Amino acid sequence: MKQRPTILLNPGPVTLTQRVRKSLQREDMCHREADFAALMLDIKSRLVSIYSEAEKAFEAVTITGSGTCAVEAMIDSFASRDRVTLVLSNGVYGERIAAMLAAHGRPFRELRADWRDPMELGRAREALAYDPGIRQIVAVHNETTTGRLNDLMPLLDLCSEFEADLMLDAVSSFGAEWIDFAHPRLMAVASTGNKCLHGIVGIAFVLVRRTQFERRSSNSDGLYLDLFRYQAAQVDGFSPFTPAVHACFALQEALRELEDQGGWRARRQRYRQLSERIRSKLATLGVPTYLDVDAYSSMISSFRLPKGWDYPGIHDALRSSGFVIYAGQSGLYREMFRICTMGDIQDEDLVRLLAAMEELICGRSTQ
Ligand SMILES: Cc1ncc(COP(=O)(O)O)c(C=O)c1O
Repeated sequence: MKQRPTILLNPGPVTLTQRVRKSLQREDMCHREADFAALMLDIKSRLVSIYSEAEKAFEAVTITGSGTCAVEAMIDSFASRDRVTLVLSNGVYGERIAAMLAAHGRPFRELRADWRDPMELGRAREALAYDPGIRQIVAVHNETTTGRLNDLMPLLDLCSEFEADLMLDAVSSFGAEWIDFAHPRLMAVASTGNKCLHGIVGIAFVLVRRTQFERRSSNSDGLYLDLFRYQAAQVDGFSPFTPAVHACFALQEALRELEDQGGWRARRQRYRQLSERIRSKLATLGVPTYLDVDAYSSMISSFRLPKGWDYPGIHDALRSSGFVIYAGQSGLYREMFRICTMGDIQDEDLVRLLAAMEELICGRSTQ
């Protein structure tokens, strides 16, 4: 049997399927040719059809860069220049959005929650009631810092109540978690091709409610991040700047594969099965989750470092067994580690992973 590659258990880039890997060997393509334009139009249409409710009202705009690039392009293009934008943060990525607003000189107010806690919806309600000028909210869907899946329903209800629009960082959830594209207050959703969609790094995208392009002009203060430029050029499948052509090959194949495998619901189901097996095995080994189990997304879990282990120790031991796990960010480095089930993870990989974890944790505790 062919040796499996090192399995990435970090939240993207993911272990590629053979099908996606093979797509990289396609014949080279110039981005100014008709065959590339057809490829780009196909990707755009596949991106909006993953969630059937998105198809009618949203347009996908792609941009070459990582997830941060898509989120910053969304902020730069749409965050108001004169009204306060409300940021609900409970982890690294929400705090990064606040930093983006600051960097672009947009008025904003950040409601920062502890990284262990849900978003501050109560304080958001107070802020919206106090300042009727606030018309935009930004939040992270799946806060990868801990794996918490922030609850969109009450947030969108709040948006309805105060007629505010929501911009969502769905970098680590798009393609595998429910997003209410039918909700009229959902304005834009930023994500990337190399997480739940299983493409390679290099192409990111924002799904934008079409009326946003029709009704207003860009708020962008630059060129590269201005989604209005991309939208105009991509109507015909082209791009204002050189796109990551090979990442587009991979994304198209990854989107076909997602469809063949049953779409986002099937992917969520597969991620969940894997995550639940990991969580329950680690619980039996005395390694508790960092958050309550119900708080997690389908594919990211965080665990307290087992007694007697630091992160490099557990990382290096698993790495030598063929698995890459992920550290806690900043202060959490000394407290926890993360395991993510995105990508081509097969049942036999999971069996090997659980056996390796058992061996290292039980081996250490009996020494
Ligand atoms: C929720 C979220 N937002 C933004 C990002 C930034 O994406 P990238 O590292 O691809 O720039 C990440 C990366 O993990 C993320 O998980």
